[in-house]
Amino acid sequence: MDHRLKRWHSVAGALLLLTLLIVVVGSAQADPYPQSTLHPKGDFALMVDKLFRTTLFWATLVFVLVEGALVFVIIKFRGKPDDPEPKQVHGNTMVEVIWTAIPALVLAMIAVPTVRTIFRTYETPKGADVLQVEVVGHQWWWEFRYPQLGLTTANELHVPVGRTVALKMVTQDVLHSFWIPQLAAKRDVFPNRSTTLWFKAEEPGDYPGQCAEFCGLQHGRMAFQVIAQAPGDFDGYVGRMQATGGPAAAPATPPVDSAAAKPAAAANALNTATLAATVQAGADTVAGSQLFMMKGCVGCHSLNATKPMGIGPNLAGIGHRLYIAAGWLENTDANLAKWIQHPQTVKHGVLMPDLGITEAEAQSLVAYLRQH
Ligand code: CUA
Repeated sequence: MDHRLKRWHSVAGALLLLTLLIVVVGSAQADPYPQSTLHPKGDFALMVDKLFRTTLFWATLVFVLVEGALVFVIIKFRGKPDDPEPKQVHGNTMVEVIWTAIPALVLAMIAVPTVRTIFRTYETPKGADVLQVEVVGHQWWWEFRYPQLGLTTANELHVPVGRTVALKMVTQDVLHSFWIPQLAAKRDVFPNRSTTLWFKAEEPGDYPGQCAEFCGLQHGRMAFQVIAQAPGDFDGYVGRMQATGGPAAAPATPPVDSAAAKPAAAANALNTATLAATVQAGADTVAGSQLFMMKGCVGCHSLNATKPMGIGPNLAGIGHRLYIAAGWLENTDANLAKWIQHPQTVKHGVLMPDLGITEAEAQSLVAYLRQH
């Protein structure tokens, strides 16, 4: 018996040490986890964080008082071998009133700020300064449209610091959930019904976001970035995007040789034999532009941010994005080439098919896309 008690003691000790270790390591490495709600950088997230801390305060107070009283009573009134049977008590109105009133008070202290916060998070921001953004969820990427600016982009949402952003969200297919842990709480996104969300970034930075509702095979790889920029930098971004004049994808699957699909560099068009030779000779942007048309990329992807059509992500500004394939592959030449050549290996189940693009062709396509 004594031996078992000793063993239990050492197990309890080890568990305690492990818990302490997790707490210490967890707090020391807070930054490597940017998708944490514990470091809010926007007014919406700050409001939710404040509510969490209020609830935590009351829960901690209740825990300490109740467990403290319990431990005190267990020690103070513990039975000794010769004790007589304690006095039997049946009901005490005063005690019962107190233990009903105190929890009711604590619940009110939590309920009032909770309900107030819920209503605030569902408010619609008003004013000419509010930046409107339409969010469209797709399996498995995010489309962002700026109706006031006439721009469309994908997977990277640029916003100005200090300005409220009002999101109107819908999906093209199944349920998704839009979540930027450091800026705003998550909100579900539905087909045929729009939901709203708002936030205001307080400081510049890259804030990772993530789909938070299981939406199929690649749900875990349906990420995005929110890039909060100083107002001047944001205006620069908008200007660059408005100046993108690459080929635009047609609304439905177009014939590759349709007028909309004519390469911008038509004057430099190469004939098929020259194209093959140029591709073999090394990454070439003119060859890349023709491959973009011939391989059918343009059927789904627009390279013009002011032309929103296309069933695939708008690729205007792709050369400057941090990530590709919806926020989870670093935007390096090697990754982009791999993604173009083997989409079904990189992210099985996406709409982009393996088109049999050779290594050399992928290099030219990467060189071409890097210009955009
Ligand atoms: Cu979209 Cu999970």
